[in-house]
Amino acid sequence: MTQQTHEEQMEAYTEAATSGLYAKQSGLVGKYDNVRRLWEDEITRLFLHPHLQQLIERKQSRMQRVRIMDLGCGSADGYELLADVRRRDADLRDFEVALLTPGMLGFYKGVDLNEELIAQAQSIYGQNSKLVFEQADFTQGLPMAENEKPYDLYFASYGTCSHHNDDETFIHLLADIASRVEEHCLIVCDWLGRYSYEWQSLWTNDLSENRNMDYVVSYIYEKEEREQRRDELQHLFLRLVSRQEAEGMVAEASKRAEVAIKPLEYFDRSVFTGRHMDTADYNPQAQPLRQAVNSLHEANVRTDPSSLLVDYMPKEGFEFINDYFEHLQMCWNALVLYVDELMQNYDVQQRTFSAEPPPVPASYPTALREMMERMRLVVEGVGWLGLGLPRENIIEPQLGYALRHLEMRLQKGLGCAHGLVGIFEVGTIKGPSPNTFAKRAVEAPRLPAARVTTAR
Ligand SMILES: C[S@@+](CC[C@H](N)C(=O)[O-])C[C@H]1O[C@@H](n2cnc3c(N)ncnc32)[C@H](O)[C@@H]1O
Repeated sequence: MTQQTHEEQMEAYTEAATSGLYAKQSGLVGKYDNVRRLWEDEITRLFLHPHLQQLIERKQSRMQRVRIMDLGCGSADGYELLADVRRRDADLRDFEVALLTPGMLGFYKGVDLNEELIAQAQSIYGQNSKLVFEQADFTQGLPMAENEKPYDLYFASYGTCSHHNDDETFIHLLADIASRVEEHCLIVCDWLGRYSYEWQSLWTNDLSENRNMDYVVSYIYEKEEREQRRDELQHLFLRLVSRQEAEGMVAEASKRAEVAIKPLEYFDRSVFTGRHMDTADYNPQAQPLRQAVNSLHEANVRTDPSSLLVDYMPKEGFEFINDYFEHLQMCWNALVLYVDELMQNYDVQQRTFSAEPPPVPASYPTALREMMERMRLVVEGVGWLGLGLPRENIIEPQLGYALRHLEMRLQKGLGCAHGLVGIFEVGTIKGPSPNTFAKRAVEAPRLPAARVTTAR
């Protein structure tokens, strides 16, 4: 090889920089921030798991593979979410942990109205002929040809169903799906929750009001840049949906199709960590909690525990919702304060707590008690480690997961979070009742007997 000039060598760096591969990666901001990848994607997977597992087992027993349609697929985000659903029975010895293995995926069709996103999806997955992307408008009906085989899973994620500003187009789409089912299918719908704390100013008891919101895509920038670019920010017109409204639309689609569309589960996703908590664009009292949770999960970054403490401001006339938020706030803060106390009391030299942590009150909700006990074991187990920044890289991410677990166990599926997700079934699969599965989905894996004292 001949000696290169400095200019020639610099070209290698220029190419790397323009390819984007040299971009500084951070989970603190952007579409795929830590909360999106480690909370929102995972919560969706955990709730979906039992239903997807049943579906896969059913297809396997018939010697068939799974067909998926992703409505509003973006750059194939639905495919990535589904391909990363893990088996719940996998343990440390397993390496292959995917529930939907490449061998069980028969066909995935992603549809989106946006040409650029379709092109991006094609550039990433175009070489895999089982993955097909099409530009189509789902408000014009189900993007499926007459002779196209029905799908086993119709999947819409991250508020995509809120793009149906008029309920009629959503009902029409759902009725189309139901009437094309031959034996069985699952349908996943995802809306913006009507009663998210992020947009408390838009809450109304009269459901004919504030049906669609002017959703500013301001969160993609950090605070300073967000304000500088205020006038050039993109706006979306999006339907806000409560559980009651979702149920009404699904019942109407069922009636029109003359096919039962059975709700299996509704869940709220991102109660205190929605993207507009950080912007406070629709609730001046919203605290930047997504930023704080992103920090918990960011490698090598130490988080100020006080940035995680929630001070929920109630809204008059919404007592039931206020009570729910207050209860979650109390549990959330109790866990944060407990973990802070554990860390303050941990003696690294002695490898033990300098003072015995206070007992966990038996009156606390089970989910909170479980998470406090686990966090004590985590702090005690790794506090002395030294290598690899145990607080930043082990304890704080675990606190993130414990808060996530708390949110999942206490959520009510009413539309009290950024996302309201509904999982539905047409036709039936024999097996354990979905409710048993639903409960199992959010159960924390069992711990060996803990050494934690619980006050009676
Ligand atoms: C909130 S994004 C979700 C994207 C992706 N599913 C994800 O998980 O990140 C909504 C997506 O729906 C698409 N979309 C909006 N209106 C649509 C329509 N009428 N027909 C088809 N796609 C639409 C948008 O282009 C966008 O990609």
